[in-house]
Amino acid sequence: MSVVKTTHTNRGEGQGYQQCWYPLMLSENLEEGNIAGHDFCGGRVILYRDSGGTPRAMTAYCKHLGADLSVGDVVGDDVRCAFHHWQYGPDGVCTTIPTGDRIPPQARQVSFPTEEKWDVIWVFFGTEPLYPVPSFHESVDTDRIMYRAFEYDESAQVDPWWVFTTNVFDDGIEPCIEGGNLCLYSTDSVEV
Ligand code: FES
Repeated sequence: MSVVKTTHTNRGEGQGYQQCWYPLMLSENLEEGNIAGHDFCGGRVILYRDSGGTPRAMTAYCKHLGADLSVGDVVGDDVRCAFHHWQYGPDGVCTTIPTGDRIPPQARQVSFPTEEKWDVIWVFFGTEPLYPVPSFHESVDTDRIMYRAFEYDESAQVDPWWVFTTNVFDDGIEPCIEGGNLCLYSTDSVEV
C-alpha cells in the first residue's frame, strides 16, 4: 500500500484549467470493484463504479490523513479508504467512520460529474456540467456512425495542440453534408 503525502488542497482545483469535460479513461478499463487513480486538472481523482455501474469521480486523497483512495476498496456505492476505513459516498461525503466517532462536516471529498459516452468515461471539472458531453450534430444519424475509442500509450507530443485537432475527425463539416451522413458503408463490410 502506498501513502501519498501531499499539499494538495483536496478541492480538486487546478490553476488555469478550463471548466469542461475531460475524457479520463476508456469504459472497458474501469471494471466494477476496481478503483482507478488519475491526474486531473492539477490534482488527482479516483474513478470507480457504484453498485448500479455508474462511474463516479472524486478527489483522491482521503480527507482524514491523506491516503490515496485508489488503493482502497469499493463497498456498495461507497469507496473505503485502506488506512482507517473511512467510507465516502458517490457525492464524496463521508458515510462511515468505523471507530464510531461523529462524522465531522468537513469529512468529504470533492466529487465531480461523470458521464459515459462513446465508450469513454468523461469527468467535468466543476460542480455542475455547463453543457452536455460533446456529440455529433443533430442532423447526423448516429446509428450509422462507426467509431472506436482508444488511448495513446504516451502523451502526444504535438505543439501547438490545434495541429492535432485539425488532422482528426472534423465535426464542423457534418452540417455541410447533405443528409448529415458521414458513414457511407455498412459496418458489416468494415474491419476495425
Ligand atoms: S487516511 Fe483515510 S481513513 Fe485514515
